[in-house]
Amino acid sequence: MADIKNKIVYQIYPKSFKDSNGDGIGDLRGVIEKLDYLADLGVDYLWLTPFFVSPQKDNGYDVADYLAIDPRFGTMADFDELVQAAAAKGLKIMLDMVLCHTSDQHQWFQRALAGDEKYRQYYILRDGRHKKSEGDPGEPPTNWQCAFGGSAWQWEPRLGKWYLHLHDVSQPDLDWTNPQVREELAKVVRFWKERGVAGFRFDVINLIAKPEIFADDTKGLGRRLFADGPHIHEYLRELVQKAGIDGMMTVGEMASTDLPNCVLYTRPADHELSMAFSFHHLKVDYKDGDKWSLMEPDMAELKRLFADWQTGMAKADGWNALFWCNHDQPRIVSRLGDDKKYRVESAKMLAACIHLMRGTPYIYQGEELGMTNAGYTSIEDYRDVESLNAYRILLEQGKTEDEALKILAARSRDNGRTPMQWSNQKYAGFSTVEPWIPLTKNYTAINVEAAQKNENSILAFYKTLIKLRHEMPIIAEGDIRFIEEDNPHVIAYERAWQGERLTVLCNFRPTSVKLCHATLQDFAGSQKLIGNYPGREERLRPYEVLVFYSRT
Ligand code: GLC
Ligand code: CA
Repeated sequence: MADIKNKIVYQIYPKSFKDSNGDGIGDLRGVIEKLDYLADLGVDYLWLTPFFVSPQKDNGYDVADYLAIDPRFGTMADFDELVQAAAAKGLKIMLDMVLCHTSDQHQWFQRALAGDEKYRQYYILRDGRHKKSEGDPGEPPTNWQCAFGGSAWQWEPRLGKWYLHLHDVSQPDLDWTNPQVREELAKVVRFWKERGVAGFRFDVINLIAKPEIFADDTKGLGRRLFADGPHIHEYLRELVQKAGIDGMMTVGEMASTDLPNCVLYTRPADHELSMAFSFHHLKVDYKDGDKWSLMEPDMAELKRLFADWQTGMAKADGWNALFWCNHDQPRIVSRLGDDKKYRVESAKMLAACIHLMRGTPYIYQGEELGMTNAGYTSIEDYRDVESLNAYRILLEQGKTEDEALKILAARSRDNGRTPMQWSNQKYAGFSTVEPWIPLTKNYTAINVEAAQKNENSILAFYKTLIKLRHEMPIIAEGDIRFIEEDNPHVIAYERAWQGERLTVLCNFRPTSVKLCHATLQDFAGSQKLIGNYPGREERLRPYEVLVFYSRT
């Protein structure tokens, strides 16, 4: 097993990272240009989201050719150069494998449409219900809903069947029960491994195994029936073995997967993945579990989830990916922090809160600057297929345009997809022309150049956190125990390792608060390892994080 415990991953969304050729779209050469910045930040792995040939209906998660690079992102020569140039700076590349579905433009689907029986069996095709005659589509085979709104089934006359798409209608799901499909996908992963890739992120991998019997979900939208389905652990072990990636840095996207399954996915003894992204902690502000229904974050639930997952995974030898942000999430400082008055304090507190936990931290581009939500006020600003669908559905449900826009402003995936803010120049130093998606206006103040000039910047704080994990085995290896469990304002925990102790106290409120069980006096003899305010006071200040280190 590669040593993953003291490593940090930085996620790059190439389309929004850096445009090198002035077409408004970020690209691979843009990433090459910024390797010095990334090496200076100190991270170990760069995870790039998909840049394969794609019609971009879902920004590259609709792959039309797994083995070729979309010309808008560059060429294979650019990619090879990226791997080498990164390696020269001690950075490893991780790629995003979208193996649950293809684009409908993929040649496999195109051949299926043309009637090739072999490729029809690559996808999940079913007859409709209540057919009145041959050729009548009838109704969708089940009531399952796709992730972006509406039925998960699409009638396709050229197939004479309905096909399953758990995401956009342009993303038909692959049939993993077909051994040929599994073989092809293992070849894809192996291809990239042989090109020098050091790790993989597997997109919606918990959804690859569909139930044996397709039936209506009488309690929900279907997800509980098709997540973590039959044989999934076998499929993963087979993939890992055939692609030859056992022991590499691998992470599975496991939205809605429970803890016991995440243990099975990540326990080294099982030779599946090295870690899992679980998303429960990013749903604590979903009213009744609905992303498009706003609610204040439920702090008690957030605390409970961290405590359960951190201690539960540790007990069973599982391993967590630690993250707040990615290309599907709003910016954390706008969500659980304060993106105005206490932007700097809250961004640092949120960072320390997860970076000092047990697991491997992920930083999403711009998070290290405290980048905020997009602040879009018009539907014209949005690009994301999920957001555009949600807007339409919200209006259909009777919301006003203003109400729908307010929800999008808080929840849209585009909040995380605005161009990286490199400088206060026109287009934020991201491009020389109008970017493919509007910038967040605050780039004039929040940008890399400004952060680099300030030794107290959020960026500087991230660098320190990264360095601490590299240098202190207690952060990578230590046990974890949650304290202050009934304190509704504070998330607090202790790490312990070979006679050392680290205590992490995080105030999630814009006001100063007291600890319930300890007092800050109790730490008089401990060293303050890191914090986001000078010195220490009786109470935790707004969004304060205090980290104490002691030897027992
Ligand atoms: C994952 C990706 C997301 C994409 C979806 C479908 O959730 O992170 O961006 O839309 O899978 O591939
Ligand atoms: Ca470009």
